[in-house]
Amino acid sequence: MKFIDLIKNLTTKTLAVTTFTAKTLATKNLATLLLTSVILFGAISLNTGCAQKPAAQQNANSSSSTGPVSAAGLAAFQSGLYAFAQTQGCAVCHGNSNAPLFAVTDVNAAYLAAKPFVNFTTPASSLIITYAGNGHCGGTSCSSPAIDPTVQGLITTWVNAENAAPPPAPGPGGGATSGPAYMTGSVSLPTTLATLMSSATPSVIRFQLSALKPAVASLSNAILEVEVRNENGNEYRFANPKIAGNTVAVNIAGLHLYVRSAATTGIGNEDPNTGLAWATITGTAPIFARPGTLPAGPLGATPLTTTPLFDPIQGGSTINVTPDVVTIGFGAIN
Ligand code: HEC
Repeated sequence: MKFIDLIKNLTTKTLAVTTFTAKTLATKNLATLLLTSVILFGAISLNTGCAQKPAAQQNANSSSSTGPVSAAGLAAFQSGLYAFAQTQGCAVCHGNSNAPLFAVTDVNAAYLAAKPFVNFTTPASSLIITYAGNGHCGGTSCSSPAIDPTVQGLITTWVNAENAAPPPAPGPGGGATSGPAYMTGSVSLPTTLATLMSSATPSVIRFQLSALKPAVASLSNAILEVEVRNENGNEYRFANPKIAGNTVAVNIAGLHLYVRSAATTGIGNEDPNTGLAWATITGTAPIFARPGTLPAGPLGATPLTTTPLFDPIQGGSTINVTPDVVTIGFGAIN
């Protein structure tokens, strides 16, 4: 039995005793009346006084309250379910100290706290709809199942906005019509690149993952390194993406590498034929210390993939005279 159910049971029983007491008040002595009042007072203050959830449940909820923020989804949440939670009175508790904190003043935090209680595949099955009318708050604001359809409507509007929304903000400049969940900042390619046939060590570009959007805690001091060569004068050859400075081993699913001319904005292009070689990879970056001084050539870390990918030059007619700029997206990081 959940803690709150236990309390509800207790209250129901105590209320029954009190009703009985009221009817038979004349025949009861003062001591019984006082005792009953004390029990009743205690039970009611626990049930309706914004009782805290047991710690384990709070943690379970807050740990799942992550994920990217979509602008259209956030807007739909704010004008819909969030506004409703204020007028309906859910904010008395859920805007204050009771998890889930989906009605707090900080709408971004509220949005993230609400998400785990919404079923984005089947909106009608969202737990928050049930809770809107199930009486769990011990007051009128959450005790009428008649408001469930209203809440379901608000959730459906939110889910539709979320699903129709473009993906989370791409790297600096923006402009992609679709993109992966995590984006690096942009890094310029070196103007002089190792050629494919030369025995010279490949050139490397490195991305500071402290700039990853959205941020990933275990990568806040990490770098992503990619080797690059001049394939044939018209194409870059990228290889051996590696992570260093991660505090835990991270699993990566899907890498996208975009190239653009420094003269343009947006995240750039990936060649539809040869630029997608990493789009479906899965790889693990074991913990690899970030050297105090980075070497000129490649790091010794294990690559996420050993398959190379190729992207055409974007600016000018000779490889990297502009120079070109690279941005990388991760499909998933965990
Ligand atoms: C008087 C305080 C109070 C009010 C008002 C209130 N709640 Fe709650 N709510 C709680 C408490 C306490 C819990 C945790 C205990 C539980 O799960 O029953 C909770 C839990 C929840 C949960 C999480 C259930 C879970 O499985 O973790 C949802 C969703 C929720 N409330 C929705 C609402 C909605 C929607 C409203 C407004 C219509 C509302 N609440 C009004 C006190 C309140």
